[in-house]
Parts: sequence; structure tokens; C-alpha cells
Amino acid sequence: MYLTDEEKRMLDGVYGDVVRKAMKILVTLGEIYGAERMIKVFNVHSPGVSYRVAGDAGLNFVKEASSAARCRVLTTLNTIGIDSERWDELGFPRDFALKQLELLDAYKTMGAVPTYTCTPYLVGNYPMAGEHVAWGESSAIIFANSVIGARTNREGGPSALAAALTGRVPECGYHLDRNRKGKFLFRVDMELATDRDFAVLGYFAGRIAGKDVPVFEGLKRRPTLDNLKALGAALASSGAVALYHVVGVTPEALTREAVISNADPIAFGHREYEDTCSKFSLAGDVDFVVTGCPHCSISEIGTVARLLAGKKVRSDFWVCTSRQIKTLADKMGYTAIIEAAGARVVCDTCPVLAPTLSKGYRTLVTNSAKLAHYAPGLWNLRTALLQIEDCVEASITGRWGDVG
Ligand code: F3S
Repeated sequence: MYLTDEEKRMLDGVYGDVVRKAMKILVTLGEIYGAERMIKVFNVHSPGVSYRVAGDAGLNFVKEASSAARCRVLTTLNTIGIDSERWDELGFPRDFALKQLELLDAYKTMGAVPTYTCTPYLVGNYPMAGEHVAWGESSAIIFANSVIGARTNREGGPSALAAALTGRVPECGYHLDRNRKGKFLFRVDMELATDRDFAVLGYFAGRIAGKDVPVFEGLKRRPTLDNLKALGAALASSGAVALYHVVGVTPEALTREAVISNADPIAFGHREYEDTCSKFSLAGDVDFVVTGCPHCSISEIGTVARLLAGKKVRSDFWVCTSRQIKTLADKMGYTAIIEAAGARVVCDTCPVLAPTLSKGYRTLVTNSAKLAHYAPGLWNLRTALLQIEDCVEASITGRWGDVG
């Protein structure tokens, strides 16, 4: 693999042993994936920041790195295992929280930005179309590649950290034009109105596309940012999709021909919609309601606040978001409304990356296809995938579906 003089210096240990190890990781990955050279990345979004995922091995790795190296490019941090300011009040275990805070200190020492969110694009890490970046977290990766038009592979914790410390990644995968073309064409034959509708489309298409690139055409109106956030998270859950195109909407898909050739369209209409929804058809008591997977935007929190104003919830209800978006929600009065109803605006974390749920929940209602997909396996919960208005309704009544 061709290396510049600067990259050779990194590999030779001129910048210390930590940078040498980081470059070694990247060179090894590059050789595995047939890269011919390294490319510079403009920024990094680092996953594996939850102590639940990193464990003591990850903590020691990051502490060692922080003792001797600094991030060379803007590096934001993914969702963590606690609400970093209210972990005690919200009942996060103390031992876990202290380990998590130790891990965050190490990242901070390296110069990483404490965003603690899977929506870094909502809080200041927004690359330009065509820029090479190194992002982790499936829902963020797919947003960067598809909606922004930046270029990233699926980075894990060690490779993202190596990219942060060197400013480099091997040139392979989605960094190359030839790997960004579509393979499956989906023709949308129905109107999609809500984020849930886009999540259902994504869940349907992800199961077919697997690791390949789906292309969508036929949308009856322009999707919103929240629509595309839901679509991507679902594609990356039922499948392992890291890039999609929507003809006439996403930046690389000005025309269908620009992103796909010779594909017979796969129809997505009411029948496919209902079939997909039937997988998440909880009816009965609702123990836990979650919105914000991926983390809520300010408009989603505004919707929840408007619907909860003057009401009381019966179910436990987490509205997950980043601290930066919560700051806006505080200023708008949304947080006060939501918490007065008995729900919680939980920052920095989410049920998947927090310590294992141990409250005896049996049922979950969410507007996230990703959470609906993982909840049964992670916690043996029966789930319903609903639009956000119905999630709020279920939290107020404590029931959902045809319950007799
Ligand atoms: Fe984000 Fe956690 Fe969902 S990291 S995408 S809220 S599983």
C-alpha cells in the first residue's frame, strides 16, 4: 500500500507508540480490503463510547491512547451509557456511571468533543457532500453517506479512534465511486406521511437489500430530515445498509440513471406496509415508551411536548436526545411540559447503550424501527412500532391496540 512520507513517519513511531499502533491498525485494514493508499478524513464520529460496549478492555485502551496522543481532526462522540448529568437521579448504577465518566475523561483528554449522540449532524458535525469522514454508529453512518453525501465506511470503535489520531483511513468501500451505486430499486406506490411510514419502508427494504445499496423512487412529496433519519435507521437495522439513494432528493441521485442501472423495481405499497407492520403488533398494557432512536430533533421533542401538555403519563416514557438539543428544548419550555407529565427527557444515552433494562418491563412502544427490531432480542419485550402521536397516546392511556 502506498504511504506518504507523513504516513510513513506515523507508522515508524516518529509521533509515538500510540500513533504508530493507530496507523498499523489502518494499514492492516487497508491491506485486508485491498486499498491502494490512505486518504485524509475531515472528521470522525466515534462509536464504542458507551462503557457497556467498551468494557474494561476499551477503557484501558482509550486511557492508554489519551496519555500520549491527541485527535488530529474534529472528533465527536457517539451515545454513551448514562445521562452524564442526571445519572444518579435517573437511577443509573453508580459503579457503571463512574466507569463511564472515566472513559469520557480519557476521550476529553484526547480532544474529542463530548456530543454523546447518534445524531452528530444535528449538533455541529455536518460534513460537506463528497468529503471523506470516518463515522461509526449505523444510523449516523447511513445519514452521512446518504442524506449528506459524505463518504464513510462502517467504522468500529478502534478504527474510528485510529482515524481520529492519524486523520487517515484506507481508501476502500464507500470512499470509492464504484461502490456507491445502487443495487435494488424500490418503487414506492403509496403516500408516506409520517416518520413511522418511512421507518416501515426502511425496515421492508433493509431485509431485501442486506448490505447492498437500495434506491427509492416514486415518493409523492419531499421527505423531511426526520423522515430520512427514520428511513436510514430502519434500513441499517433490518439490513446492514450504509448508503441509500432517493431519486430527486439525496445529493448523488439527481436522476435514477445516476445511481442505478437495469434494475427491475420492487413495489412497496399498502400490502407490503401492512405485512411489515404486523411484526410489531403489541396489544395490551404498555410498560415503556421510547422516542428518540436515533436521538430526537428539536421538532420531534416539540411534537411530544405539544401532545403531553396538561396530561399525565401512565407508562414510563423516555424522550432520548442529545444535551445540545435538550438545551434548546429547555429554552422552548418543552422539557418542563414533558417532565410535568411524568415523562423524562433523557440525554446522552438510550435504552440500547445504557445498562441492561432491569425494571421488569414486558412491553415497549416506540416510533423507532431500530428499537422495535432490537428490543425483543435484547430484553424479551413485545413491541409496537407507532407514529409519534400514537406513542404519546399510549403513554397517557398505558394501553395500546385491540385490547378488548
Ligand atoms: Fe441512537 Fe441508541 Fe438508537 S445510539 S440510533 S438511540 S440505539
